[in-house]
Amino acid sequence: MTPFHFVRDYERLVDQLVRNYPIDEAMSMAVGGRFESIGAIERDVLNYLGLKDGMSLMDLGCGSGRLASALSKRYKLDYTGADIVQALLDYAKTKSDPAYAFLLHRDLSIPLPDGSQDFFTAFSVFTHLLHNESYIYLEEAKRILKPNGLAVFSFLEFAAPTHWATFTHTTTATRMRSCPHLNTFIERSAIAVWAEHLDFTVVEFIDPDKAPWGGIPLGQSIAVLRT
Ligand SMILES: C[S@@+](CC[C@H](N)C(=O)[O-])C[C@H]1O[C@@H](n2cnc3c(N)ncnc32)[C@H](O)[C@@H]1O
Repeated sequence: MTPFHFVRDYERLVDQLVRNYPIDEAMSMAVGGRFESIGAIERDVLNYLGLKDGMSLMDLGCGSGRLASALSKRYKLDYTGADIVQALLDYAKTKSDPAYAFLLHRDLSIPLPDGSQDFFTAFSVFTHLLHNESYIYLEEAKRILKPNGLAVFSFLEFAAPTHWATFTHTTTATRMRSCPHLNTFIERSAIAVWAEHLDFTVVEFIDPDKAPWGGIPLGQSIAVLRT
């Protein structure tokens, strides 16, 4: 079977980075850079949304452990990270609490039991998928979350002036056939429709330049859905 576009693209990207940069730099660049600071902001987001010691969290597209490494410094969690590139998972393991689990998973599903998780996170992941793929992962998120569990994901949107540069860079790269992976925008109206169909409640959308957790904004918009 032909591999999914995201497996092909991210394997190629990570290979290229590992061949050309020192490992820490390559592993940070593979997930978008600013390993420490973005990881800390993602952790602040979850802290603001009520993450507590002892909770379970599924981190889809955990990459090289930007979030897992930040969480390890503050929390004792039942954490599972899944990604499609083994080299990223191997690095994430070295940066995180030894009790955290990391799984290679290359399918449109989430390898966890029904009703088992307090949180589902996907930071900067749906930004690289087709809408239908993101919808399928949200369907899975709904399945694995406990009642009142939270699905938290970041996204790019046309309404955010700061996201326009990503669109124009992607346009240029597309023209030159040099785009390393998809960069997908999702509008809030689409997320609201998806939530309705999946029986999620939209708790809030967080603007890319706002930080209700009282720190630094993430830069991407954030959607928070409750089961
Ligand atoms: C921009 S990085 C973000 C990584 C991490 N969430 C963070 O914020 O540091 C996107 C990650 O998603 C992973 N990825 C892409 N498509 C995926 C999929 N369908 N399932 C799981 N992981 C995926 C990539 O391998 C990469 O590690």
